[in-house]
Amino acid sequence: MTKDSSSSEQARELAALYFRQQSLFEDEIYLPAPPEVKRLRVLRGALTPLPQTLAEFEEQIHDCTRCSLGKTRTKFVFGAGNPNAEIVFVGEAPGRDEDLQGIPFVGRAGKLLDQLLTEIGFSRDDIYICNVLKCRPPKNRDPEATEIEICKPYLLTQLSIMRPKIIVCLGRFAVQVLLGVKDSMKSMRGRMFPWEGAQVLVTYHTAYYLRNPNGISFGQEDFAMLRRLYDDMKQAW
Ligand code: URA
Repeated sequence: MTKDSSSSEQARELAALYFRQQSLFEDEIYLPAPPEVKRLRVLRGALTPLPQTLAEFEEQIHDCTRCSLGKTRTKFVFGAGNPNAEIVFVGEAPGRDEDLQGIPFVGRAGKLLDQLLTEIGFSRDDIYICNVLKCRPPKNRDPEATEIEICKPYLLTQLSIMRPKIIVCLGRFAVQVLLGVKDSMKSMRGRMFPWEGAQVLVTYHTAYYLRNPNGISFGQEDFAMLRRLYDDMKQAW
């Protein structure tokens, strides 16, 4: 590719990003910041900072009605846990309990998550947790492609504010959104992938173990791997 064609390709990508995000944030555009530029926000010509904190960002988006889930949800489920955590878990979408309480992973899958965390000496205070979708799909159906596209910038902005060292993908929707692959969970679980300066660890969604209790040893193995990764990385910090 010549220098000219690569810069026109970049311009096209930038324009596409602008229009995608404009449809979400109207006259504001959020860009994933490269490592050397912490936050960049272009507001129709003016430069103003991205939300600096998760609380500020939640305040901006908690009334979202950009897809139909905004009409059927009870509560917007932004995320919870330690906003300064080095580890972020990404689930799929709120279920019934989460929708009622506005907090992720408070139902049965959440209790199992707590159990797996306890086994490796972590609690919710050591991590942050959020979902690909911030609103419950009716009857807990799978997220739809358009809902994922619309909600994805919210997750990416959360991650760009937090800049965690480790991201744990709980299940295939988190894997699809962050790693852009649709490979089977069987082939992905227990593996790590570099992503925007972080390590992404893939594991089954904890709801999987509610359906397949015998598979819990996979979860225990993957969480033990998380603990080792965290301890190794911490030595280098
Ligand atoms: N399952 C998810 O993916 N997220 C929740 O918050 C609860 C259950």
